[in-house]
Amino acid sequence: MDAYVNLSGDVLPSDYRVNVSRYVALEGVDGSGKSTVAHALVERLVTAGFEAMTVREPGGTRLGEQIRELLLDSEKLDDWAEVFLFAAQRAELAREVVAPALAAGIWVVSDRSYFSSIAYQGRGRGVGEQKVRAINEMGLEGVVPDHVFVLDVDPAVALARQGRPDRIGREGVDFQSSVRAAYLDLATQDDKVEVIEGSLSVDEIVTHMIRVIL
Ligand code: ADP
Ligand code: TYD
Repeated sequence: MDAYVNLSGDVLPSDYRVNVSRYVALEGVDGSGKSTVAHALVERLVTAGFEAMTVREPGGTRLGEQIRELLLDSEKLDDWAEVFLFAAQRAELAREVVAPALAAGIWVVSDRSYFSSIAYQGRGRGVGEQKVRAINEMGLEGVVPDHVFVLDVDPAVALARQGRPDRIGREGVDFQSSVRAAYLDLATQDDKVEVIEGSLSVDEIVTHMIRVIL
């Protein structure tokens, strides 16, 4: 396999696709505590002597932040356009940011991943979980999280925790409940997906994660 050179000129080792053991994703319905826990986890990893960074989806690159605006600020968006825009920003993030960081030995803690698309677009929008999984896995070419933690919070509680919900966050409790059910199913199908009780304290959640990933 040839070495891969990304847009910033970083030459990635030819085996970068398999060097992903430090890639952790946080998942859960809107307001479940993902970004709070992501930052606390990175802090804990850095204190333990590791290099670690957070990324967020949608976003994390210039293109990704522009796509984020399209996704969250548009008044209306076709369901399949939504699927492909999420997948597009994710492919850019994977090769521009995540793969180089992993190749350099840096932990990457991601606020969401393609498991969000499987749950929100696949189940929530009803376009089909297998189709959404396949589209994303094609674009990611193996740059996928090793550990996926789902912060499980009752959608009504999580919605109440949110400040200003975005276009998708405004979908309401029924939509978020189907997203939550999709996450719980994913955890039963895939060993790397683990559900954590989201009402625990941030410290307890991070301590549990550290035990699993280190
Ligand atoms: P998300 O990124 O999933 O939308 P946030 O991290 O922004 O969620 O958290 C939403 C709100 O819930 C914030 O006000 C945050 O302080 C609070 N919060 C986060 N984690 C917890 C927790 N484990 N217990 C109670 N409140 C929390
Ligand atoms: P995020 O900024 O993480 O929102 P929150 O902090 O409220 O959880 O995500 C923005 C919105 O995009 C959120 O409603 C979830 C949605 N989303 C999808 O529908 N599919 C995806 O693949 C991703 C990454 C996010």
